[in-house]
Amino acid sequence: MPATTILSGIRPTGNLHVGNYLGALQNFVQLQDRHECFFFIADLHALNEQFDAKEKYAQVLDTAATFIAAGLDPSRSTIFVQSRLPAHAQLAVTLANFIPVGYLFRMTQYKEKAGKQAQGNANAGLLYYPVLMAADILLYQPTFVPVGDDQDQHVELSRDIAGFFNKRFGPTFGLPKTLHTETPRVMSLLDPTKKMSKTLGGNHCLNLDDPPAVITKKLSRAVTDTGDGTGAGAKNLLLLLEHFADHDTAQRFQRAAKEKTIRYADLKQTLARAISDYLKPIQEKKTALLANPDHLEELLAAGAVRADSVAQKTLSAVFQKIGLRPGD
Ligand code: ADP
Ligand code: TRP
Repeated sequence: MPATTILSGIRPTGNLHVGNYLGALQNFVQLQDRHECFFFIADLHALNEQFDAKEKYAQVLDTAATFIAAGLDPSRSTIFVQSRLPAHAQLAVTLANFIPVGYLFRMTQYKEKAGKQAQGNANAGLLYYPVLMAADILLYQPTFVPVGDDQDQHVELSRDIAGFFNKRFGPTFGLPKTLHTETPRVMSLLDPTKKMSKTLGGNHCLNLDDPPAVITKKLSRAVTDTGDGTGAGAKNLLLLLEHFADHDTAQRFQRAAKEKTIRYADLKQTLARAISDYLKPIQEKKTALLANPDHLEELLAAGAVRADSVAQKTLSAVFQKIGLRPGD
């Protein structure tokens, strides 16, 4: 068995975008060749914001299909849905007792998301989110957690919780580290000072499902000059080109940017074509997978069995350590 364990999750919130792909999913695909990998759909993590119950299940299946269409192979990686394994919730409820609530109030994501609401109105799930994430991670004892850099603080918190637990009950958990790609932060098309995120709105993102005409249209509106001298918009588009186009094309535009001869209309057109070509086989595979939901469910069920066998071992060890089960 490979020596290193990798684990990561993505929330099923609808269409994944190229930020999710370059910051996380593409890395998952590369990692599965060399490591023992667990990748899951973090459906319990998708409940702390507005959602439509009628859409959620379809979004879970959609995310599973995206994982596989993008190259995750269920025979090499364990792919599962978080809410189907009670161990995640059980460990989260347990670990919550070993972390001061102040640590949770300090989380940037909590402050950003809760800050928009009147004090006290943010739901408790938003505050508790990093504890659940720590449980997700620690159940599988991964060495690395591949995520975009917005998740660093949450992975750090899982190390804090592991550290507190180990100190009190003896060595139980290893301390997981984040693993970034070369693009841990793809920026928004319309506001390149912010990370590309669905919460900003559809036109800020290039979605993995977008057809070529939509990609062309969104890119034609993308901001290149932010007026602050940073060139953040243009840099972001060049970065995308580097990942989606062939090496020579990317080099040509990089050079033109340096020499200040770049024509942004050309860049946007070339990029639109490169991304559309890149996404086409992924979109086709995804459509085929979604046409057979029973088969997807079978794959997820097999993944859940594999994941649960690992999760249960950790949970038993934890329950023994804290005296909820008899020791050996
Ligand atoms: P979103 O922020 O769009 O709601 P998620 O929070 O579900 O996306 O993120 C899923 C994964 O994609 C995480 O590992 C996250 O760090 C990564 N990610 C999200 N947005 C970006 C981005 N703009 N650039 C790079 N990685 C990203
Ligand atoms: N919080 C992550 C996000 O918003 C998703 C997630 C949930 C996750 N549990 C995890 C990522 C465990 C890595 C490991 O993207």
